[in-house]
Order: sequence, then structure tokens, then C-alpha cells
Amino acid sequence: MKELQNLNLDNYWIPFTPNREFKSDPRLLVASEGMYYETQDGRKVLDAIAGLWCCNAGHCHPKIVKAVQDQVAILDYATAFNMSHPKAFELAEKIADLTPDGLDKIFFGNSGSEAVETALKVALAYHVAKGEGQRTKFIGREKGYHGVNFGGVSVGGITPNRKSFGPLLPGIDHLPHTLNFNEMAFSKGQPTWGLHLADELENILVLQDPSTVAAVIIEPVTGAGGVIVPPVGYLERIKEICTKHNILLIFDEVITGFGRLGDSFAANRFDVTPDIITMAKGLTGAVVPMSAVAFKNEIHDSIMQGPENMIELFHGYTYSGHPVAAAAGLATLEVYEEEGLFQKAKELEPIFEEAIHSLNGEDQVVDIRNIGLMGAVHFRSDPIPATEFASKVFQHCYENDVMVRFSGEFLILSPSLIAEPQHIEIIIEALKKAIRSIA
Ligand SMILES: Cc1ncc(COP(=O)(O)O)c(C=O)c1O
Repeated sequence: MKELQNLNLDNYWIPFTPNREFKSDPRLLVASEGMYYETQDGRKVLDAIAGLWCCNAGHCHPKIVKAVQDQVAILDYATAFNMSHPKAFELAEKIADLTPDGLDKIFFGNSGSEAVETALKVALAYHVAKGEGQRTKFIGREKGYHGVNFGGVSVGGITPNRKSFGPLLPGIDHLPHTLNFNEMAFSKGQPTWGLHLADELENILVLQDPSTVAAVIIEPVTGAGGVIVPPVGYLERIKEICTKHNILLIFDEVITGFGRLGDSFAANRFDVTPDIITMAKGLTGAVVPMSAVAFKNEIHDSIMQGPENMIELFHGYTYSGHPVAAAAGLATLEVYEEEGLFQKAKELEPIFEEAIHSLNGEDQVVDIRNIGLMGAVHFRSDPIPATEFASKVFQHCYENDVMVRFSGEFLILSPSLIAEPQHIEIIIEALKKAIRSIA
């Protein structure tokens, strides 16, 4: 990889990265296969986070690669407005098969952020169509991550993502997050403490006037905010309160969709059906960017009004349902089915759970949280500040051929659904060594 020595690092502004530090010692990936990346210095690095919780079928799966290669040579692009192509319909049908009953109408975008904007806008349009245009407010949740566009940041609850960007959208309130070390540290799966925090929704609604609220948006399991698993009964209670007040419930399943929790969606796993589900990442296994939103049929049908020759919804993207992304999506969903990857993830969950909790007792570890194939290891700031500790653990792991993710005070693990028990073992051993090398 000689040519990389002359690589100009100046122009590319890297997202969510300390650019100056990174450019002084860049970590560059040049190839990938299955559970592994290859680095520019020729090392094979075990990917413990499936890219960014997205390469659910592993890297460069031959079937998906071939589908993309074939498609790009046959139909590179199809005009997205007033025209379409067969694969977009086929993929929408396949997605509708995986979503809970009654959420059968699928709108395509290109990123999780766009899926969120689409969900929020359609929620507003639905209420307008129903003659309830006064419902303009949204309720998100502290520590929630819903992408980086203005709507998503407004309903999101991660402070650094909000603070440089002005007043954001008006009419937004936030539920409290459910993380509490005193009450639920080292819970395995769903904590038994915290159901009462769902009732905070009623308090917020008293303040906001429920008849002015369009939708509540939450991640069923908070992802980027630290793998915060919903307390037992919490999602059911949120759903109950939304239904009572005719408020739409949006599950942002950009992470939890497509097998991450051992089921097609968190909605299926928890048996709580929202009105709208956003999805991205695992939809195409991240081979080609694509997102989608599944809407309850009634939402779609309410908007299908007016003369049939008129556009019903003034929203969409040049690349909505892009043929190459649709081909990647179809192939990816076939791989999930043929290889039984959702079931495989379910079977690996207890092994993953036991392995990650074996870090309990290591220095500075204050909490460990997990569900499905997602987990977080949270550090205390004593004696070393937690953010510094987490970043050092990440760097040590990377130098020792395992890629985890650090975010603030915690590390995240989210291996591909193709992971085997021995991969989990390697990841946990690397983490142990890293923690012990620092403490
Ligand atoms: C729950 C959730 N929603 C939305 C997004 C935004 O997705 P994207 O980065 O593709 O815009 C993410 C990204 O991680 C996410 O985790």
C-alpha cells in the first residue's frame, strides 16, 4: 500500500472525528471481508462493531457484491419522481413482510437521518390530512440519537450534537432517559427498574397539551447514547399513553432493525407495534446507502386524498429507491433469510451477554449493558477521566487488531450477525488486555 504514504489528508473533513488528531496519525482501512478489515499497514482487524452497527451480513458478502455489480451495469439510475423501476417495489414488499402487521407502506431515503426527517414530516402531514393540523409538536428523549438533520437533532437528546446549532425546531420536548447506575447497573437485558419513567410522558403531555402533539419518537433501545435497554414494560406503557391521546409513536430502528436484536425489528422482539418505523444500516448491510420508513397503512391512506392526478405528498429524494441500493437491499434480505442470520444472532445473544459481563470487576468499569448483539461498557472517571479512558481502550484494541467503538464515557460493541463465539472471545480478551494496560 505504498501509494498511501503520499495521500493528501488536507481536504477531507472527517465526520464526528477529532480531525487534527486523526490526521496526525490516521487509521485507514483499505479492504474488508467477513468479520475483518484490512488496514493500510496490512493488518487484519476484527470488526467488533459491524462498521457502524450496519454491516449486519459481514463485509463484502459475495451475494450482495454480485447483486450490486450486476445492477450498476444494467440500470444505474431510474428517475425517482413520476417514474420508478421494479426492484424498488420488490424491496418495499420484502420490507413490509418483515415489519409488524399493518405497517406496509414503505418510503425510501438514503440515510437514517433522512428516514427520521421523513417520519417527522409525514406525521405532521397525516394530522393535517385528518383535520388536526394543530398537532405540530414532537416529543423525543434524552440521550436519543436520530441523525444529524435539523428535525432529528431537535428531537435528539445528545448535548454536543445540539449545542452549536442554534434554537433548532420549536415545539419539542424530551422524555427523561432511563439510565441509572444506582438502580440498574450491570443489568442483563431489560432492567426491571425504570417503568415509572414512561409515566413522565403523561406529565409532559399535561404541560404541552396532548391535542397539540403530533408524535413521540424514541429508539426502542437507545443506541449511540449508550445502549440503554428499555426497562421491562416501558415501551408498552409509552405505546399505551400515545394511543390514549391519538399521538403517533415512531420507533427509530436505524440500529435495532434487521436482526440486531435477533428479530427483524425491535417492535417484533418487544411485541410493541408503533405507527411508524425508521430503518437504514442493516437494510443494505451498508454496502450502498439506503434508508426506509414503514408507515401504518392508515397513515398512508389518509394522505392519499384529493384528485388522483395530484401529488399527495410533497416529499422525496433524487435517490429514493435507487436501483443499486434496491438491488443491494434485496440481496441483503435474501442473505439474512438464507443464512438464518436473525436466528443466529438470537442464539449468540446469551454467549455475547456472558462474555461482555465478564468485564464486570475490571478497573473503572461502572456499568455494562446489553441486549441482542449490542452492548456498552461504561467507565467511571476515577482515577482517569472516563472519556480519556475509553479512547485509550479503543486505541489499544485497534493497535491489537480489534476495532471497538468509543463514544464519550463508554465503549460500544455491535458485531455482525455472522459473528461466531470465537470472535466474541477475541473481542473480550482484547478489551480486558486494553483495560489492564491502562489502569
Ligand atoms: C437510531 C438512529 N437514527 C438515525 C441515525 C442516523 O443515520 P445516518 O447516520 O445514516 O444518517 C442513526 C445513526 O447511527 C441512528 O443510530
